This record gives sequence, structure tokens and C-alpha cells, in this order.
Amino acid sequence: MALSQFLSELEALVTAAESAFQSAADAAALETARIEYLGAKSGRIKTVQKGLGGIDKTDKPVAGQRFNEVKARIESAFSAAQERCQNATAAAAVKAVSRKAEKSDAVIPPGAFDPSESPPGCRLHLGRLHPITQTIETLKEIMGRLGFSVADGPEIEDEWHNFQALNIPASHPARDPLENFYLSMAEETSGAGPMLLRSQTSTVQIRVMENRRPPVRIIALGRVYRPDTADATHFPMFHQIEGLLVDRQVTMADLKSVLRMFAMSYFGGEVHIRFRPSFFPFTEPSVEVDMQWHDRWIEMGGAGMVDPNVLRAVGYDPEEFSGFAFGIGIERVCMRRHNLTDIRELYKNDVRFLEQF
Ligand code: DAH
Repeated sequence: MALSQFLSELEALVTAAESAFQSAADAAALETARIEYLGAKSGRIKTVQKGLGGIDKTDKPVAGQRFNEVKARIESAFSAAQERCQNATAAAAVKAVSRKAEKSDAVIPPGAFDPSESPPGCRLHLGRLHPITQTIETLKEIMGRLGFSVADGPEIEDEWHNFQALNIPASHPARDPLENFYLSMAEETSGAGPMLLRSQTSTVQIRVMENRRPPVRIIALGRVYRPDTADATHFPMFHQIEGLLVDRQVTMADLKSVLRMFAMSYFGGEVHIRFRPSFFPFTEPSVEVDMQWHDRWIEMGGAGMVDPNVLRAVGYDPEEFSGFAFGIGIERVCMRRHNLTDIRELYKNDVRFLEQF
């Protein structure tokens, strides 16, 4: 075949193919055009390619190069058309879904575009809750069964709720600016003096008691912040669960029973509780709480009977009411239960770690 004839066949082919792909109205029409032009056995490109064999040897490089260019153009016209059809299908499906959702409950019609769908042959990657979130949910559930409801408080706090009302005087080392994340927020902006990221969830005890009369039976769970260097057991942000019960004639035996039931539900089986004398400004007496599990004593947090000064600060009469409080590290119980040895693993966002929970 003469070179000129081959080249004009190529021109005709590319014009026809481009117009066929561009005018394909939907996926089915595009597929028909694809088979006609790009079909592996008897597509029109294949047929024209066969003509290459009859081209004079000296003309072959020119013919071959032009053929490759034309083939690439046709393939890219096909890809563009394919993308256009997919977008149209997706848009139509989304429209259909939202129309349906407007009418009643949202149901994706069979065969419609589903954004959560994986390509065929790929494993479906389902997300899951972070281990700390899972722990929080479990703790809420356990304490809920013991009659404690969930209370919440801000993570940006004033000194009254983080310290003063909790009987922590200005001279206390816990108030050292280097031990806390103070904010550079102007005092006029806060209206409540210097502000800091709360260093403990005990703040929520005050916020709840300021707004309620006894009996109070709450837990507060959430983030707290301290400028610690991260290592296997420290992280500048971590979570605590705070418990507070105030009523008439509350005793330390109530505190121990609640903590024991809590530990047995969370860890499963027999768990012993041990109190060691300690000091916290907001409790009197104060204790460190250890739990024995699998023959080891593990320090879980602090607790005690609410200090009369704290009750007075919120307007309760310490002669009439008494209460207990406790604060436990959520990372600590989560790590103990899952046998984790490095708190930093929880905050690296490594999916290979997180998907094990
Ligand atoms: N707030 C204490 C801390 O962060 C923990 C704590 C100790 C909380 C004793 C309490 C308590 O409610 O009674 O170290």
C-alpha cells in the first residue's frame, strides 16, 4: 500500500473515532463505539494496523510513527468520553438519591452510584472508632449502669474552675505556669482572668455542683493537657474519667464499692482494689487507687472524699452533704486492658495499629 493512502486512512479513522466517542450519549453507546474502534480482534484500529505490513520498507518508520500518534489520540478521546459518562451517571444517581431523601428516608436505589463502594476485587476498608473512643463508650456504659450520668465541661478553663474552687491555692506547685498550658488570650476577652487548657477533669465537678443541688452522681470524660514530654507513659494531651457522687451520708465504703464494680466490669473477673494514703487539695482524706489484675498491682488514679472547702466553694453545706470523687487515666486503663506499652502508639494514626481494635 502506498504511504499516502495509509496516511489518509489514518486521518479518516481518527476523525471518525473522535466524533463517535464525543457523541456517545451514555455508557452503552460508548461501549459500542469502543468495540468498533478499539476492539482487540476486529476493531478498526486493528484493521488499519494490518495495512502497515504492506508499506514499503523505507516508508515504514514514518507510517509507524503516525499510526502510534493516531492510536494515542483515539485512546485519549475514549478516556475523556468515559470520564464524562461516569460523571453524568454519578450526578444522576446523587440527584436521584437526594430526591428520594427529600421525599422519605434516604435509600440508595439498586445499581446507583455508591461512594463507599470499593472497586471489584479490592478489600472493603471499613473505618472504626479509635481505641480511646471505644474505651470512653465502654466506661460510660458501665458507669451508666451504676447510675452515673455524663456531664461535660470546656477544655479551655479559667483558674477558678481548674484550681481555686478545687481548693488549690495560688502557691500550689500544680499552678506553676510551666506545668500548664496557659493561653495568651487577653484577660478582657475571657472576662474571667487568665485562661488555660484544663489540666484535669476535676473542673467539671465544680461546673456541675455550681448548677445543681445534691444528689449529684456524674462522670465527666475528656481531654486534659499538661506540658509533659512524650514518652512511653506520658503525652501532653490525654484523657481522664472523673467521677463525683454527693448526697447525704456518703462514705469511703461507697467509693471503694463503686470503683471495684467499675474495675470488675471493665477488666472482667475478680479485680481487687487497694487504697494508699495520698494527698489532693480537693479531697480529704485522699487516696491513690491501685487495682490488682493478673497478679499485678497497677496505679489507676486518685480519689477521696470531697473536701469541705470544695463543697463550700459551690454553696453546699458540708454538714449536710458529703461525697466522693475519683479521677482515672483513660489511656492507662485502655493500655492495661489491651496490653499496650507505649501511649504514643495511640496518637500516631498508624492504620496498621488502629485497625487491630
Ligand atoms: N485530678 C487529679 C489529677 O489529675 C485526679 C483526681 C484525684 C481526681 C483525686 C479526683 C480525686 O476526683 O478525688 O491528678
